[in-house]
Amino acid sequence: AEARSPLPKEEFGDLVAALPRKEQYLDGRLYGGFWLPEHYAPGIIAFRRRFTPRPDDVVLASYPKCGTTWLKALAFAAMTRAAYPADEHPLLRLNPHDVIPFVEDVFTDGHEAKLDMLPSPRLINTHTPYQLLPEAVVAGGGCKVVYICRDPKDMVVSLYHFMRRLQPDLSLAGVVDSVADGTVPFGPMWDHILGYWRASVSRPDRVLFLRYEDLLGSAAGEHVRAMARFMGRPFSAAEEAGGAVASVVELCSFERMKALEVNRRGTAGSYKSMPRDAFFRKGVAGDWANHMSPETAARLDGIFREKFRGTGLAI
Ligand code: A3P
Repeated sequence: AEARSPLPKEEFGDLVAALPRKEQYLDGRLYGGFWLPEHYAPGIIAFRRRFTPRPDDVVLASYPKCGTTWLKALAFAAMTRAAYPADEHPLLRLNPHDVIPFVEDVFTDGHEAKLDMLPSPRLINTHTPYQLLPEAVVAGGGCKVVYICRDPKDMVVSLYHFMRRLQPDLSLAGVVDSVADGTVPFGPMWDHILGYWRASVSRPDRVLFLRYEDLLGSAAGEHVRAMARFMGRPFSAAEEAGGAVASVVELCSFERMKALEVNRRGTAGSYKSMPRDAFFRKGVAGDWANHMSPETAARLDGIFREKFRGTGLAI
């Protein structure tokens, strides 16, 4: 038989089995103060223990359903802009999840050697909270991190629709409750956001904090410009003059990506293999109002306002 190192679920199975468990639409295990999806818990522990960062790695971090797909597309398009004519870009033929590895899948599946194979600078993606990132990633000389979050109410509605693809009888109330009590996958959501927020305040050269809402509309170019500069690939004056920023934004726009054949068929990711079209639903801010009562919205807003009080972070 082919020699291979033990899979994380073999190596860390006992450790995970001893952790508090929450049975819900995505079963969780409480590890280091966060409800990690049970399926990913061993892989995240392996990531923490085994990942060797390179100084020029860029970690694209996100809370689930807050714009991961978009961030991956924008970062990849910005980094590779000089390599392809806009009408022949790989993102026209590949789903963003197929061009930037999701660390949780890579480690869970025992495929970490794939990360070693990537040329530098690497772009990698994770939902792991800042507080649980590998020590070497957050250390002084560690990696650059770009984080994206979103209005929790829109995250709830997005997560609800996403999980309904797997569990058609899931109720929105169940998802709301899990966010409110912190047991939502990768929750508590406020601690996830605050971890990256605080890091972005104390180490602005290493952690860039973005919001889904900021990327919508006319300010998108500003943020793409800032992200490219942050990643060490600022747009040159000639590129600016040639409209390179706008073409990155346009390539990654919701309408454009959703309409692509590659994003309408097949599956992405290894866990439960989600249909690719499930990552492109509506792509707006404020859809919560179509699904949630004002009372529920006020309940969620109240919780986050309270948790963010005194942090400088507005909900
Ligand atoms: P909605 O369900 O509200 O439409 P993630 O990528 O983290 O799983 O988040 C998915 C959310 O981002 C979905 O939100 C999806 O529609 C939206 N999204 C995906 N690609 C996008 C893009 N290119 N521009 C804007 N929003 C996008």
